[in-house]
Parts: sequence; C-alpha cells; structure tokens
Amino acid sequence: MDQSDQLDELLTCRLNFGTKTVEPCTIVIFGASGDLTARKLIPALYHLFAEKQLPTPCKIIGFARREKSDEAWRAELKEALAQFSRTKRVDQAVWDAFAVNLHYCQGEFSEASAYQKLGDMLSGFGNEQLRNNLVFYLSTSPSQFAEIVEHLSKAKLLRRDEPDAGWQRVVVEKPFGHDLASAQKLNSELTRFAHEKQIYRIDHYLGKETVQNILMFRFSNSIFEQLWTRQSVDHVQITVSEKIGVGARGGYYEEAGALRDMVQNHLLQVMALIAMEPPVSLQAEAVRDEKVKLLKSIRRLSASQVGANVVRGQYSEGEVGGHARLAYRQETKVRPGSSVETYVAAKLHVDNWRWAGVPFYLRTGKNLALSASEVRIQFRPTPNVLFAAQCGPKLDANAITLRLQPNEGITLRFNGKVPGTSMQIRPVRMHFSYDAEFGAYTPEAYERLLLEAIEGDATLFIRRDEVETAWGIVDPIREYWGGQALSDKELYTAGTWGPVAAEQLLAVEGHSWRNPQPIN
Ligand code: BG6
Repeated sequence: MDQSDQLDELLTCRLNFGTKTVEPCTIVIFGASGDLTARKLIPALYHLFAEKQLPTPCKIIGFARREKSDEAWRAELKEALAQFSRTKRVDQAVWDAFAVNLHYCQGEFSEASAYQKLGDMLSGFGNEQLRNNLVFYLSTSPSQFAEIVEHLSKAKLLRRDEPDAGWQRVVVEKPFGHDLASAQKLNSELTRFAHEKQIYRIDHYLGKETVQNILMFRFSNSIFEQLWTRQSVDHVQITVSEKIGVGARGGYYEEAGALRDMVQNHLLQVMALIAMEPPVSLQAEAVRDEKVKLLKSIRRLSASQVGANVVRGQYSEGEVGGHARLAYRQETKVRPGSSVETYVAAKLHVDNWRWAGVPFYLRTGKNLALSASEVRIQFRPTPNVLFAAQCGPKLDANAITLRLQPNEGITLRFNGKVPGTSMQIRPVRMHFSYDAEFGAYTPEAYERLLLEAIEGDATLFIRRDEVETAWGIVDPIREYWGGQALSDKELYTAGTWGPVAAEQLLAVEGHSWRNPQPIN
C-alpha cells in the first residue's frame, strides 16, 4: 500500500458503548392476530434471527383472542413472511429453526385467567431468563393498553421495582393517546404498574436508517453544523408524502386524521432531530432531553393563528400513477360528509437562539403525486452583488436535501458555470446514495427497534414528556379545526401535491415548496 492508498482508507468507527448485551428473553406480542404482527413484527424477528442477532434462546409468544394452535399460527406467519419479508425468499432451514420458538397463547385481554395461562407457558420453558426477561409488545387497540399492563402486573409477570427479578419492558405502539389529556391519562395508568424506564413508546420513523443518520450527519461532520443556524438557513421544508390513500383503514383514519396520524409523531420527531442542539452524550436520556427541549421551543399556535399557519386538505377523486382513486369521503368506513384531513401543511417557528426567525414548513398527505420523505435545508441567498445582482431570482440558493425514503441519500445543491463561451450559471447537484455507497441492504425500522428494546436501549423510543409535549403542539390545531366543516377549497384532487392554500402558506413569505424529485 503506498501512502496515497493509506490516506484514502475509509475509517470505520464502530460505536459500541460496551453496555449493550442481548440476554435470553421471551417476547410476548399482544394482538398477535393483527396486521402489524404478520407484516412487520414477525418478518423483523425472522431477519434478526437469520442474522444471529437475537439472543439464544429467545421465545416469541403470540397472545390473542382467537383459538389457534401453535402450528396454525406458524403456518399463517410463514405465509405472511413470504409476502412481506424484505428479502422475499424464505429460507426453509432458517424458518424451521426460527419457527420452533413461536408459540400461541389464546386468551381474553380482560381475563385474569389468561395471564395465569401465559405465566404457566413461560414457566414451562424451564429457563429462568426466558421466564423473567420479558418484552411485552402491545399491538392492540390503545384502549386496551392500561388493562393489559394492569393484568400483567397482577399476575407478577411485569414487576415495577424488583431489579433482581430479570427485566421486563413494555413496548407500546402508536397512537399514544388522541390528545394531551388522553396521553397524560394513559401515561399515569401505565406508570402505576411499570416504571417509565420500562416503557418503550414506538415511533417507527426513529428506526429508519436515514432518520438515525440525521444525528450522525450533523454531529460527526465539521462542515455542516456551523451552517445549521439562522445565520445561514433561510427555511426548512419537511415533506412526508404518500401515494397511497387510506385504503382499508378508513375507520381508524376517521378518528385520527393526518395531524394525529403523522404530524404529532413522525414529522415532529424528524423536525426535533433536524433542529435539536447537540446532546451532552449519546446516552438515551441525553438525546431525549435535547429533543424535548426542541419540542418545547416550538411556538404554540393560538386558535386565531392556526388559520394563517396551518392548512388542511382532503383528497377528492383523481388518479395516482395512472390508477383511479376514490374521494376520501367514498372510502369504506368514512362518513360521507367527513371533515377529516388527509393532508396537513404547517409553518412552525422555533423560538430559540439558533432558529429564531427561520420557518419550518412541514407537510404530509395521502394520495399525493409521489411517495417520498425528505428534509430540505434551504440556505439564504448570496448578497445582492456580483452574480446575484445580475441574475436576481434566477440565481438558485444552496440547499441540502436529506432523502429519508426512497432513494435514501443526501443531495447538496449549489451553483456552477455551464461549460461554454457564454456565461451561464445553473444549479448542479452532488448526490450521496446509500445504495451506491453501501449496497441495497437496509434493515426494516422494526428490526432495529425490536433489537433496541431487547437490549434495553431507549434512545429510539419516545419518552413521556416528549409525547406529551408533541400533543401540546398539535392540540390547538385540532381544536380549531374541530369547530369548522371542511370547505370545498380544502379539497385536493388525488394525485396532485395538495390544496392550493398550501402553496399560499409559503408564498406569503416569498418561499415555495420544492417537491421531491426522482433521482436520475
Ligand atoms: C404510519 C401511519 O404510522 O406511518 C400510516 O399510521 C402511514 O398512515 C405510515 O402510511 C407511513 O410510514 P412509512 O414507513 O411507510 O413512511
């Protein structure tokens, strides 16, 4: 190796805090007959098993109401795995070795006897750690969370203050409450029986590779962070657009709407990671402290401010990618005159030293033109001299786009000279692509999250004060809309980028949405 090779060597630093271990444990999934178990949880556990990341031994118990044998449950899961696994092909030998660890426990969530049965099953494994180290995954309707946790505690399966009795963790799926008051109530109910340290609130966006990369991008490079302030940044755009409509989830969506379904959690989490201050360490509490601090600095909107800062929309009939789409109001289990929003765009301000005066624009919607999640950091224009003086608005401002999905990667946009004798300037783009750099392997968010819960690392989960603060941000918006029927102007044709008012939201500031672009 000559000297230049050595200089070019790519140093890889493995972050290992020396604290992470996987101990034998049992994962109990409540709501095991549901969609999430078949589509996400079991495929994730299968891949972790295949990659030898699960502890040995490790058991998985599906707990649900329907009568079913272990064999029948395994057969169902195998079929689902073939359909939903990220690698598609199911390796028979791996599946056989994995499937012997899957067990089914039939029971009513409300009956004490069901939890005795679960306890007997755990004892039957004949291994102290499988009996005591427990991950309870609540993938049920949120109204059942408190009841299940209470029963687990009474059956002495979940122990709050007994450090010597193994460890037990409760993983809670979203939605976590439907407003601040219900989230606070749920938190009080859960913490009667489980310590806050035992509660792992899921936001699957935090398990995405690209979302995790936000902190590395910001805090392991010296060239970007100094630009990450109001001195350099003009505004920030966070887009999470989806080509899908609400499909079979009309009933759920009527209660949720885009604000609760996406903004309260995924978009605010991404915004917190983009805008937070550097944490004092990489420990879970330090990272979460900074996220909470950021969420607390987001300016609360009063009812009179909602109209000027937040836009809602609902899709009407249209076409997405050549496929006809029903109007939201025609979807199954949706009220014909529903005012529920399938689109939200919001202008938020962060009242702190770093970001004062920089608008953060967030938008999300169903049945939009493209499925893409990205964050665009739009930098200030150059001073109005030299090229800017001649080009005016035709001179593009610099931007960094973090593409969270698809085409995961980062693009830097800056101006360059068009080759030739005439003097022309236009933006050029420098792309980093995960695929090109690291190959196609991208673990599913649930793989990472399940592993973290087994390891007892809560960094990627939402803390109590975090979820409550996030509700505090969206509640006034919901309350304002609650009193107003959706007008025709708030409808957008399926397959477009949302209602016209979303354009105006930015136009008043001299800004415009930059829609995600396919990468060529
Ligand atoms: C879920 C929402 O939390 O996130 C869905 O309930 C949404 O409505 C989904 O479609 C989007 O997740 P992803 O990973 O496909 O971007």
